[in-house]
Amino acid sequence: MSNDLKLYIQTYGCQMNFRDSEALKNLFLKYGFLITNNLDSADVILINTCSVRAHAEQRAFSFLGKLKRLKEKKHRVIGVIGCAAQNYKERIFKRFPFVDLVVGPANFYKLPSLILNLKDKVLEVDFEKEIDALYTFDSNREFTNPAYVTISRGCSNYCSYCIVPYVRGELVCRDPQNIIKEIKDLVERGIKNITLLGQNVNDYSYQGIGFLELLKKITKINGLEEVGFITSHPKNISKELIIFMAHNPKVRKHLHLPLQSGSDRILKLMERGYTSKEYREIVDFYRKQIPEGKLTTDIIVGFPTETEKDFELTLNLIKEIRFDAAYIFKYSPRPYAKAARFLKDDVPIKEKERRHSILLELQKRISLEKKCLKL
Ligand code: SAH
Ligand code: SF4
Ligand code: F3S
Repeated sequence: MSNDLKLYIQTYGCQMNFRDSEALKNLFLKYGFLITNNLDSADVILINTCSVRAHAEQRAFSFLGKLKRLKEKKHRVIGVIGCAAQNYKERIFKRFPFVDLVVGPANFYKLPSLILNLKDKVLEVDFEKEIDALYTFDSNREFTNPAYVTISRGCSNYCSYCIVPYVRGELVCRDPQNIIKEIKDLVERGIKNITLLGQNVNDYSYQGIGFLELLKKITKINGLEEVGFITSHPKNISKELIIFMAHNPKVRKHLHLPLQSGSDRILKLMERGYTSKEYREIVDFYRKQIPEGKLTTDIIVGFPTETEKDFELTLNLIKEIRFDAAYIFKYSPRPYAKAARFLKDDVPIKEKERRHSILLELQKRISLEKKCLKL
């Protein structure tokens, strides 16, 4: 039964956030809401935010700032949800008094009932262990290729630069039975290509079932054609996983393996748990097993104390490895993260920009060359 309330969701951030917004839309549909793409006509506006870099937060907050006028024209419910909601908590109400709800990622599944029963301002930022409730009702998804399937929330790795463990909470994994049920539903509706999502899929663990076992079960689903996964952390990716990838025709031949830096000194400060040599060894093994496999990465430039020498080590490793694509970011100190608390953000912004554009140019050239070679 419809309740005639129209919901608009604006999403920032990673694939996981987009997947959460998609699942949220389905949950709201179940509660009788309508979904709209027209901001003006919306009764409920939710902004699903990202905190991973300062810039990502600013984009969401600048959108939020514009909603004040909309709210003055017509009363509507405005909610800030997701990672920046978890980061700023009640401070969001102070800065944006017209906001009604601030809800962190672990509490998304409560949103429809919170909104239907809204009397006062709502702050829901406790780290709940519940994870399946958000995804289990999701049976109306639009066709996407691939479709994203979340296998876990949060992260317990605490890389020193990263805010994710503090805003998404410690790692919580979904029951494999629910993951498999979700994928079977997708396959029945003709969606045969999926990507599994987790901050570090290698950490997946549910009552003794690890990621490789989960992946093996998924590949056995009749009718499923392709399964990929992001992200794999270099510190604990197993050779068995790569071998399985090589031999199972359903597993997508793509590894996203964030390097972050080519300097061992910086990797240590980042608390990544591997050296550049160990990283190279994984790449060699992957390429031997899957010569046609795609390899992509993430890089941060301008981490505290990064010298020209450290930067050159990263540059040289990128030249040597020749990734198919690399996402290159300028370091930005994040609340709670160790690096922000204990290390001075001492690489000047101009220098970060210089290193950033050098790597962008280099990677652009490599990506283009690799594409041309394949044609
Ligand atoms: N779980 C994934 C990464 C998620 S965040 C992993 O461990 O690989 C995506 C990327 O954002 C990271 O790989 C990193 O390159 C970048 N990033 C994270 N925190 C950052 C920060 N404080 N400043 C700049 N880039 C950052
Ligand atoms: Fe952040 Fe590290 Fe976890 Fe990735 S593995 S989300 S970079 S703490
Ligand atoms: Fe951003 Fe949260 Fe994803 S901080 S990158 S939306 S996990």
